[in-house]
Amino acid sequence: MSYTERLPRIRTYLMCPPEHFRVEYAINPWMDTTVPVDPALALKQWQLLRDTLTDLGHTVHLLDARPGLPDMVYAANGAFSVDGTVYGARFKHPQRADEAAAHQLFYAGGPWTFADPVHVNEGEGDFAYLPAAYGGLILAGHGFRTDPAAHAEAQEILGRPVISLKLVDPAYYHLDTALAALDDRNITYYPEAFSASSQRVLRQLFPDAVIADRTDAEAFALNLVSDGRHVILNTDSTAMGEKVRAAGYLPVHVELSELKRGGGSVKCAVAELRP
Ligand code: ARG
Repeated sequence: MSYTERLPRIRTYLMCPPEHFRVEYAINPWMDTTVPVDPALALKQWQLLRDTLTDLGHTVHLLDARPGLPDMVYAANGAFSVDGTVYGARFKHPQRADEAAAHQLFYAGGPWTFADPVHVNEGEGDFAYLPAAYGGLILAGHGFRTDPAAHAEAQEILGRPVISLKLVDPAYYHLDTALAALDDRNITYYPEAFSASSQRVLRQLFPDAVIADRTDAEAFALNLVSDGRHVILNTDSTAMGEKVRAAGYLPVHVELSELKRGGGSVKCAVAELRP
C-alpha cells in the first residue's frame, strides 16, 4: 500500500514537570497507593519527553507544578483549546479540582478567550480536535469523568461539531487512553473501550483509522502525541509503533514507566495549545 508523505505540522504544547508527582490516592484502576513512585526517575523521563518534542521543532510552554496537586503532571486535563478559544476544565474528583485554576491563570497571560465551564470535563483528556476532518471536528468521551452535558457546552463555546463517544471500560476512563489523533484528519483507537453504538459512529466517520487491540491499550499506546508525521509513544508500545509505521507515520518511543503508575502516559502529560 502506498501513502502520500506524512508531513509534520509545528505545534505548541503545554507541560507541567512532575515535581510533586505521587500516587497518594486512587481515582483510576491503574493507581496503586502502596507502590511508591520514583520522583527522580519520573522527572528524568518527563524531561526526555519534553526534549523529544522540542528536538522535533515544537514549542513547549511550562506550567509550574504546585505542591498538593500530585496529578498536575497530566497537563492534558487542564483545558481544551480550539482556534484561540479555551474551554476550561472542571475536574470530577476534588483531589484535582485546584488544577483548573492553575491552567486558567496560564491562559490569562496570553491572547486567549477563556470560557469557564459549568459542567464537569477533564480537558484534552476527554476531547480531541481534528481540524481537517469534516471541516473541523471535536471528538469527546464520557462515561467515567466528563459529563455528557459538557459535550454540548463545548460545542456552543468552540463552535465545532462535537461527536459524543461513550467509554465503557474503567481501565480506559479518559478518551485519550483509547483514541488519538494521528494527524489533522485521521485517528487510531481501541474499539472495545467504546460502546457498540460509539464504535459504529467511529467506523462511519473514520474508515481509515488505525485499529488498536487490547495489548496496545494496556500498554497505553493510544495515549500518544502526533505532529502528523512523528508519533510519540511510550517504550511499551512496540506493536503500536509498527502499526503506525505501516500507515506511513514515524514512531518515536520514549520511556515513561513512572507516569503509568498514575494512569497516564505521553498524551496525558502534553496539552496542545491551538491559538
Ligand atoms: N491520575 C490521573 C487521573 O486519574 C491521571 C490522568 C491521566 N490523564 C489523561 N489525560 N488521561 O485523573
